[in-house]
Amino acid sequence: MFWYHAMTKHSYNSVRMNPNRLSWEDQPSTYKNYPEAYQKFKLNLEEQEDNFLYHIAGLTAKKSYPSGEYYLRINPSAGALYPNELYFQVRGVEGSVDGIYHYEVSSSSVTLLQEISEEEGIEPYFGFKTAMKGYLFLVSAIYYRSSWKYKNRAFRYCLLDAGHLLGSIEAAALLKPHAVQVHYTIDKEKLNRMFGFEEREWFLAGAVMAVPIHGSEVTAIEFALPYVDGSRSFEKNELIEQAYYETMVLESCQKQIKAPKFTYNTTKLQETLFTRRSQRGFDEGAITKGQFNYIMESIHQPILSDCDEEVSVYVVVNRVLDMPLGLYKDGAYIEYGDFARKAGYLSLEQYSLSQQGAVAFFLTSKAKNYQALYQKAGIIGQRLYVAAQYMQIGCSGIGAYYDDEVNEFVGNDEMVLYALAIGK
Ligand SMILES: Cc1cc2nc3c(=O)[nH]c(=O)nc-3n(C[C@H](O)[C@H](O)[C@H](O)COP(=O)(O)O)c2cc1C
Repeated sequence: MFWYHAMTKHSYNSVRMNPNRLSWEDQPSTYKNYPEAYQKFKLNLEEQEDNFLYHIAGLTAKKSYPSGEYYLRINPSAGALYPNELYFQVRGVEGSVDGIYHYEVSSSSVTLLQEISEEEGIEPYFGFKTAMKGYLFLVSAIYYRSSWKYKNRAFRYCLLDAGHLLGSIEAAALLKPHAVQVHYTIDKEKLNRMFGFEEREWFLAGAVMAVPIHGSEVTAIEFALPYVDGSRSFEKNELIEQAYYETMVLESCQKQIKAPKFTYNTTKLQETLFTRRSQRGFDEGAITKGQFNYIMESIHQPILSDCDEEVSVYVVVNRVLDMPLGLYKDGAYIEYGDFARKAGYLSLEQYSLSQQGAVAFFLTSKAKNYQALYQKAGIIGQRLYVAAQYMQIGCSGIGAYYDDEVNEFVGNDEMVLYALAIGK
């Protein structure tokens, strides 16, 4: 097991010995905004391309608290801390200047960081020799936004949230419709330097929604952007830094070239993405077997990527009509029984989610490429949110669980990556 993962487990005792006391006034900013001197383009939802971009990471709800107003987004995030940033290169897309952009969430606009030419681009950092028509996305993390609250465990959340954002790109691309391939093997070291991240922000993955322009070779573009603060405050976390750098380069990757098949109706999907929310608790409502099967089929579709690590999905059925209660893996029974209360306990006693929900999920892996396997768990999580919401069923990610006790329950010694629950 990767040492970082072993060191950041929760247990019944650990969460009681290290209670987290936070002052919300000190919360780091969740927005990164480039200076006004850069050219910015406001997203216009009437335009197809802008509408597509908005459905990846746009703002969709406002919540008012005594401490201020908070905005929620298309993509979910552990603790609504949104550690990830989104960048992309556009080439040959009507209505857009070819270039490299940052997605500015706070103003629903995109900032042009660097123009590109026909001969140069970021393609070579993805391993492509030819120019790519379409979008090359890059997902980063500003880890302090999350480590401010979640301390050492935050790297897990940065990766899960990045996976959700990649899943969000996949879902928004279905509106066009287009396939998206996740690229974990990008030249992170070089890109981090060129983007001026100064060790406070790191690239975690890329995603390709583009096709090669035959006969059009490109060379790697070189530039040096200035550092732009994306968290307001910052405290270095050496454990997280070490975990990032040790897992930055991927090894012995297996590609997944089989495309997923989804059966979403575009109009209904668009509405689904726009209205997606996390359910804060369930009322012990049941779902049908048809709904359950539809959701399972969607999350088990292949994920196109250059490094497809194996992630196991354990399912605790609490309330699915005509389905026996118990623990399943890949559609097969492991154990019969009513484990609702157990699932609630394992999810750090969030009983209103995993006990009162219809189904609880636990994702585990024993694979080697930590950044790839963890982000895959996030992509599966995003697919679960979308498929459930599409069926008018609630969903919540659950980043906090008792690691070792989940292992005992499911009967393996793999890394426990994520828990989720769906229900009514
Ligand atoms: C990786 C991850 C872990 C999460 N963990 C929990 C959790 O343990 N308990 C909980 O109630 N919500 C959890 N959530 C839900 C977030 O709190 C929620 O996404 C965030 O507040 C934004 O709200 P929204 O999803 O409705 O947009 C998690 C979400 C993600 C993506």
